[in-house]
Amino acid sequence: MKKILRNLKSKALKDNIPILSDEGIELIINEIKKRNLKSMLEIGTAVGYSSIILAQHLSFITTLERNEDLHKKALKNIKEYQKTNIEAVLVDAHDYKPSRYYDLIFIDAAKAQYEKFFIKYKDFLTSEGIIICDNLNFHNLDINKVSRGTRSLIKKIESFKIFLKENKEFETEFYNIGDGLSVSWRRK
Ligand SMILES: C[S@@+](CC[C@H](N)C(=O)[O-])C[C@H]1O[C@@H](n2cnc3c(N)ncnc32)[C@H](O)[C@@H]1O
Repeated sequence: MKKILRNLKSKALKDNIPILSDEGIELIINEIKKRNLKSMLEIGTAVGYSSIILAQHLSFITTLERNEDLHKKALKNIKEYQKTNIEAVLVDAHDYKPSRYYDLIFIDAAKAQYEKFFIKYKDFLTSEGIIICDNLNFHNLDINKVSRGTRSLIKKIESFKIFLKENKEFETEFYNIGDGLSVSWRRK
């Protein structure tokens, strides 16, 4: 299994498909174990790499992808790894309405939209559930040495971090590992 996953990882990297870092996977698995989480809603399937790995530690996963080509690749990979506990949905996450609550919401999609996704999906989080966001360091780019588009994305991520830090409903811990992750849980 480990060798096949390594193949999936190297193929994704070769095809320039951004996938969750090893440190990010470790952090999420630790949170799953520590908090006894059972279900996850993932926003951003890509080729299914993170969901296939995390499916070994969870009972049920719904994962959303808006790119049809990537969604099809994910379906193929999920079938190949025989992960029957993953529901992969081809949809823009702005339009999706969950039909259940989840213990873990993992936001790993278009960075400019993180705040919108957080606000929309927090209502589908179980009371003891957590929201994890990836790519908050934005590859540690220097804001003065990037294109205008990238600068605007970096600013959006920075403003999302402030949104999390000042959030009255959720408390957040930031982790400077991988590409920067956050873990948020409801304040008591
Ligand atoms: C960083 S990749 C996901 C990587 C994956 N979680 C992994 O680690 O294997 C981000 C994915 O989010 C998808 N995405 C971006 N915006 C989206 C949206 N609004 N709805 C659904 N998917 C979206 C992109 O097409 C891309 O495949």
